Amino acid sequence: MELTGETNNTQVVEVERVLPGGVGLAHAEGMTVFVSLAAPGDVLRVSIDRIQGTVAFASILEIVKPGPERIEPPCPYFGRCGGCDFQQLTYQAQLDMKVEIIRDCLQRIAKVDSPPEISITRSASEWRYRARANWQVDSAEGLLGYFEARSNLVCDVDYCAVLAPELQETMENVRRALVREPDRPIRSIDVAVGDEGVSVDPPIAGFNTDTLKRTIGTETYYFNAETFFQVNLELLPPLIAAAIADNQGKTAVDLYSGVGLFTLPLARRFEHVTAVEAYPLATTFARLNLDHAGVENVTVATLSVVEWLKHYRSFEPPDFLLLDPPRAGCESIVVNGLISLRPLRIAYVSCDPATLARDLKKLIAGGYRLDSVAAFDMFPQTHHVETLAHLSYQKTSSLL
Ligand SMILES: C[S@@+](CC[C@H](N)C(=O)[O-])C[C@H]1O[C@@H](n2cnc3c(N)ncnc32)[C@H](O)[C@@H]1O
Repeated sequence: MELTGETNNTQVVEVERVLPGGVGLAHAEGMTVFVSLAAPGDVLRVSIDRIQGTVAFASILEIVKPGPERIEPPCPYFGRCGGCDFQQLTYQAQLDMKVEIIRDCLQRIAKVDSPPEISITRSASEWRYRARANWQVDSAEGLLGYFEARSNLVCDVDYCAVLAPELQETMENVRRALVREPDRPIRSIDVAVGDEGVSVDPPIAGFNTDTLKRTIGTETYYFNAETFFQVNLELLPPLIAAAIADNQGKTAVDLYSGVGLFTLPLARRFEHVTAVEAYPLATTFARLNLDHAGVENVTVATLSVVEWLKHYRSFEPPDFLLLDPPRAGCESIVVNGLISLRPLRIAYVSCDPATLARDLKKLIAGGYRLDSVAAFDMFPQTHHVETLAHLSYQKTSSLL
């Protein structure tokens, strides 16, 4: 079916709600229309950029009537820069929509008919919260910033409103250095800020890939710009507390453990902890962090979770297993391995509600009950959200 709009490729639509992925949902002429950067209740004149079957992908030409939660996006790069896609919404609307996105994924993908009540913890800062970033460089054109939305063109950004002030200052210094060294073949730069100083990878502008130190609650962590560390530091104490909750006992497992953000607090509560992380530099820092804390009851395995599951042998299922995989979630073989391992309780920390829901569906079919779901607004001004799900083992799986 073809859309017949005001012209061949324009249409007036009313946005019903925001979907996982952050796009607005509308219907017109028998088609489902996905509109980027929309707010619920917006009446928009849109341009249809692409049609796939009965789905049209559209961008806003004119806001005919703004929805009740629409505000003026404060960032001048909004719309072109691919970094933020929720600046058009009040902060409360962003929070409400993230809860709605998680509920939608649980119902539609995980097939949980009545999901538990989902609380969301707000970010202490709606702006200037990013303590880690990945910048893109186009040396030929002298550009530094982020990829444009759905593109690998670099959007040149002088000022990024979600960056921690130390990283904003670093960005300005890096920009000046890149102008002085136009022939340096750099495509991408990772940066992170610690309690004192910043770490930049690759080194540039007098900045090195220095080791950083961060105190989170009562624990201290060492890491650098090459290793993963969470973006929004103020939310980490409540996230860690909620993830571990009142769990304690003999054995815990921390999968995708990075530099040990959850490993250290787990080691205070369990007799023995196994941490599994594939990236060798991250496990080097994890061991340093454990040594520094005087913790001796942890085994750190530098292995992919798939490899670790192949080799792990224990007579007893672990009391508690925490997993915090990358955005893609777990491979099928990992979810099956978890079901065979049969930890009594699981805490699943995820930065993508859709892949979380996909994995929860299999865990529930494998004998786990979904006990609670909580959200943490790690990434204000974007549709991204950190979700924590707690599960407990109920019965022997009929699938294995
Ligand atoms: C979202 S981060 C979480 C790290 C840590 N839990 C934290 O909060 O700081 C995911 C981590 O998984 C690691 N990773 C990615 N794929 C992996 C795999 N297949 N097996 C083990 N670790 C993996 C990455 O190197 C990264 O450190």
